[in-house]
Amino acid sequence: MAKIAMLGAGFIGGFYTSSLHGLRSRDKVQVVCDHDGDRAKAFAAMHGIPEWTTDMSAAVNNPQVEVVVVGLPNNLHLEAVLLAAQAKKAVLCTKPLGRNPGEAKQMLDAVEKAGIFNGYLEDLVYTPKCLAGFDSVKKGTIGKVIWVRSRETHPGPHSDWFWDKEISGGGVLLDMGCHCIEIARGYIGKDIRPVEVICWADTLVKPIDAEDNAIGFVRYANGAMAQFEVSWTFRGGMDLRDEVMGTEGTIWINNFLRTGIEMFSAGGKKGYVAEKAETDRGWLFPVADEVHELGNNNMFTDMLNAWENGTECMETFYDGYVVNEIMEACYRSVTTKKWEPVNLEVWRGKEKAEPIAVFDEYDKDSLLIKEEVMPDGSTKRILKDKISGKITQHFLPPQ
Ligand SMILES: NC(=O)c1ccc[n+]([C@@H]2O[C@H](COP(=O)([O-])OP(=O)(O)OC[C@H]3O[C@@H](n4cnc5c(N)ncnc54)[C@H](O)[C@@H]3O)[C@@H](O)[C@H]2O)c1
Repeated sequence: MAKIAMLGAGFIGGFYTSSLHGLRSRDKVQVVCDHDGDRAKAFAAMHGIPEWTTDMSAAVNNPQVEVVVVGLPNNLHLEAVLLAAQAKKAVLCTKPLGRNPGEAKQMLDAVEKAGIFNGYLEDLVYTPKCLAGFDSVKKGTIGKVIWVRSRETHPGPHSDWFWDKEISGGGVLLDMGCHCIEIARGYIGKDIRPVEVICWADTLVKPIDAEDNAIGFVRYANGAMAQFEVSWTFRGGMDLRDEVMGTEGTIWINNFLRTGIEMFSAGGKKGYVAEKAETDRGWLFPVADEVHELGNNNMFTDMLNAWENGTECMETFYDGYVVNEIMEACYRSVTTKKWEPVNLEVWRGKEKAEPIAVFDEYDKDSLLIKEEVMPDGSTKRILKDKISGKITQHFLPPQ
């Protein structure tokens, strides 16, 4: 059982608390902290939390509290994590870990120096579908992962501070690119080094200094490619989709919209439909259990089990730091319009990665490139001579 301080009584604080208190959980938010006292008080009443405060240090140092959950705007993550490290309390921090890799590295150093348990709250790698995808990749179901495409787009965030680059640290690339980048790392292998990136980002629609659209590619040491697409100007709700291409198979995942429940309402659903839904009438795509579908239940189960057992959870501050470094390289690439290296000051994975390609030997002289049954029923077999390199095709009559 964990007694928790919830820092932030906003959107994500609500999701986290519902997950922690859901399903007769033994974990309990003991105190909620928000600089808006009315909000903290109302949040405590709504979730049955015994104490509320506007003082972050008091919440962290509350003697009942064992685990600190950071659900504050991005500019406050560092301060909150340093307070937890000082108090030697376990700390779980939402995404992005830092506004930049400098902040993320300071947080990583602080928790490791203090020897405290740390978890990076990247919910989207814990969605039931993503975990099933990772498991299939681990079992070899789709062979070796060559390419991952991850997309998160919606019509823009729900609070003022996201849109202010000073507070948030960046636009959609930072806010949602972090999800897509970590999802792809999970499929490609977190021990495979991300080497370089190329990225486009622009401010196409909104009157802001930060980017509202971005697309990027991250190349890994084994040749695998991760592609991310993020937007704050997509119309039609929240689109969370992943595609994984392996040498022996494919995975397509739709995490959010059109996931099985479709509803038509002529009069309007009257209230909340799903995160970032743009309408409550007509054809609707609610998400039956949003807290779970977005990975929160699996995430807190993994993290608090690991905390109890003294083991490491699936997503640590180190992962948050790696993601921040990848995004920093993306921002450099947007400016230079060139491939930019990912400068990882700390790398804990493999130094050398095996290449993806394993060639199929057809016979002692040739390698098999491709075999396909043609419309007339014949089979075409395309071979490459091992010595001369010559490529030839051979027809086998219909069977
Ligand atoms: N899927 C996800 O993982 C996910 C989703 C949404 C947000 N987030 C992250 O969660 C964090 C918070 O986002 P949100 O959507 O909950 O924002 P929000 O605006 O809904 O809530 C932020 C809360 O922090 C409070 N706050 C602001 N300054 C404070 C201070 N100095 N001390 C105490 N409280 C303060 C605000 O009053 C507000 O209640 C961000 O880092 C964001 O990136 C993660």
